Amino acid sequence: MIALGSDHAGLPLKRVIMKYLEEKGLEYKDYGTYSEESVHYPVFGVKAAKAVANGECDKGIIFCGTGVGISISANKVKGIRCVSCSEPYSALMAREHNDTNMLALGSRVVGDEVAKMIVDTWLNGEFLGGRHKIRVDQIKEVDETGEIK
Ligand code: RB5
Repeated sequence: MIALGSDHAGLPLKRVIMKYLEEKGLEYKDYGTYSEESVHYPVFGVKAAKAVANGECDKGIIFCGTGVGISISANKVKGIRCVSCSEPYSALMAREHNDTNMLALGSRVVGDEVAKMIVDTWLNGEFLGGRHKIRVDQIKEVDETGEIK
């Protein structure tokens, strides 16, 4: 199950990606926003992030105008590693090296087709472990304790 969330600016791209996930037979849960009315991105970034952090969803994809504000918000939730991405190479590395569990896209930055390519790449990417695990474990340590040994 994929958690989705957006503000009003991210909504058009979220709708494109919802349709894309449906075509691929992938299940999602949309945590809002549901209309074009202006809203505040932290609310929806955090709602989707909490669904990933508590295990209700396996991964999350969130949207705002740039992908920046909503990714910063999601990253404040313990257990979340969210990447804001505008091309597929970083999307792949964000899975293989960083084991990200959320992806943020900017609807005013990436076109629909590039966004679909990023989503595909990110969803199919596998964490490589090894030396990357040491680094991701350090991120987790800071997340949990505020310190790094
Ligand atoms: C909304 O205008 C815009 O600021 C928001 O969607 C996002 O881009 C913030 O980072």
